[in-house]
Amino acid sequence: MSQPRPTVLKIGGSVITDKSKELGVQMEAISRIADEILEANTKNLIIVHGGGSFGHPVAQKHAIKEGFKEESQIIGFAETHHVMTVLNGLFMDALIWRGIPAVSITPSSCIMTRNGRIMCFEDSPLKQLMKMGFIPVLYGDAVFDTKLGFTILSGDQLVAFLAMRFNAKNIVIGVDVDGLYDVDPKTNVKAKMFERLTLAELKNVQKLLGGSNVCDVTGGMANKIAELIPAVEHGITVLMVNATKPRYIYKALKGERIKGTLIEKE
Ligand code: IPE
Repeated sequence: MSQPRPTVLKIGGSVITDKSKELGVQMEAISRIADEILEANTKNLIIVHGGGSFGHPVAQKHAIKEGFKEESQIIGFAETHHVMTVLNGLFMDALIWRGIPAVSITPSSCIMTRNGRIMCFEDSPLKQLMKMGFIPVLYGDAVFDTKLGFTILSGDQLVAFLAMRFNAKNIVIGVDVDGLYDVDPKTNVKAKMFERLTLAELKNVQKLLGGSNVCDVTGGMANKIAELIPAVEHGITVLMVNATKPRYIYKALKGERIKGTLIEKE
């Protein structure tokens, strides 16, 4: 029997952490999202979470994304990876103690990048655990790179890669704003949200947007879009919703109508 096409869910770091303070966790958000994932009971789900105030400040302090340049970065790489495992542990706790059969897959142990792009991914454990009904949970991580020594792999690159590799039906991106806007809604009250975008429109929006202004080593919204474009080209539907609002992730997973930005190929 062939497996149904998976849904890939990304929970942004800004949702589960407090980006205003280093290592600030939003435990209530993590618990609520775990409740919603449990209730939605989505078959064939792959979860990816971001780094927020755990991964980004440490990675930035040690310039991990730029690659290995000096000895002092070695401990910085270890620290960046470690804080991500700590955040992942908190997320895993919330899932597993609710009875969700989630298994953490550590990107730095099964993925190598080349100049920041995923080059190889040993995915047999992931395939096996999905076949057996487990829910894999991955995250943006500090990873080893064949050219740079090491770098940062964003959760967004991972989401698009997994969605394409496993022929996902859809991608749900949970962020801390209502969807995709023409300008940053956190700094511009006139920001207009897109309810639906085609691939061609998405490419135009990408040109409009700059990086995000908070500490984000993986490039904010513009980079998120750049990563998603190949998945949309592949025919995978993307829905971006506000995961800080109760029931949004639940409804998005259930395919219910909800405020957010829907991105489709045509
Ligand atoms: C970043 O992952 C991971 C590290 C900095 C180690 P993401 O780029 O996916 O994180 P968010 O969602 O933007 O916080």
